[in-house]
Amino acid sequence: MSDTPTDYKGPQRVLSGMQPTGRLHLGNYLGALKNWVALQEDPTRECFYFIVDMHAITMPHDPATLPDTVRSAAAAYIAAGVDPEKSTIFAQSAVPAHAELAWIFNCVARLGWLERMTQFKDKAGKDKERASVGLFTYPVLQAADILVYKATEVPVGEDQKQHLELCRDIAARFNRDYGKGEAIFPITEPVIQGPGARIMSLRDGTSKMSKSDVSDNSRINLEDDADMIARKIKKAKTDPEPLPATVEELEGRAEASNLVGIYAALTNQTKAEVLGEFGGQGFGAFKPALADVAVEYLAPISDEYRRLISDKAEIDRILAKGAERARAVAQPVVAETKKIVGFWG
Ligand code: TYM
Repeated sequence: MSDTPTDYKGPQRVLSGMQPTGRLHLGNYLGALKNWVALQEDPTRECFYFIVDMHAITMPHDPATLPDTVRSAAAAYIAAGVDPEKSTIFAQSAVPAHAELAWIFNCVARLGWLERMTQFKDKAGKDKERASVGLFTYPVLQAADILVYKATEVPVGEDQKQHLELCRDIAARFNRDYGKGEAIFPITEPVIQGPGARIMSLRDGTSKMSKSDVSDNSRINLEDDADMIARKIKKAKTDPEPLPATVEELEGRAEASNLVGIYAALTNQTKAEVLGEFGGQGFGAFKPALADVAVEYLAPISDEYRRLISDKAEIDRILAKGAERARAVAQPVVAETKKIVGFWG
């Protein structure tokens, strides 16, 4: 798209979101939340972190528990260090502009773009005729989530890369078709970084750590206590070889590579640095060291999570204030977009 305007000049805005669940895990933390917290410390960036309850209903869900899972995710964000005074925290469904912009983007995105989305194929399974239409257009709503704030950066794990590429395609197509030479929407940069960008299951180093895995031993949950964390790491699948001295030698050793990556992400090191320390040692020595850093890192988060979740009124107050701030930014963007496409109101 050579005639696409890319000279976007708006403010630096960071945005990201997670599915509502009481079970945020180490992958969510190291792949996303940890970077959210770091980004909010830069005063030149405005940060928006939300809970994607509208995406949650693309799959079967329980209406009776959905509000509490939103509270639980909000509590986990804050426990992990997202500061409601510095960042805007809210529930997606509390800001109607997301859905309004998603409709317009449904008419910008092409069917072929969505048909290439691997997450839809994974989630719909074999019987895709029975999947909700919402599940198919899920990435369009995700693009609206991002662009309704004209977000310039989106910190996520590697599994979201394809969705962010679609968001960029939608922005570029909208700018080209409607921008009259001006970049209405930014071409958002994904922030996918560090050894935490893709944390794998503790039971199988070739599949990602996920809340939907039937085995709870496959993941470390943010609310697991010290004993549970140590037990899960002890049970984690490995191979019989000692750790190698170089990253290249981790090739073909998915489980070993994953545990080294987790250690590196938790201690803010590279995998090479971790191997510099542990190369030549067996898992009998490495696993207890990993359990120690995981417990040291996660214990304060799970303590804080338990404290926050017992005060629903406080969480609701934070979410209400966040929604108000979010609406104030999103509403004018949707109004501008509606005008651009020629709508009445
Ligand atoms: P969700 O809820 O599946 O995941 C939330 C965040 O956690 C990251 N993540 C991981 N990172 C590393 N290793 C893992 N094993 C791992 N598992 C999950 C994800 O990459 C993500 O950053 N579609 C999104 C939610 C969404 C969104 C948005 C995100 C909706 N609208 C707008 C950013 C911007 C999702 O389902 O994430």
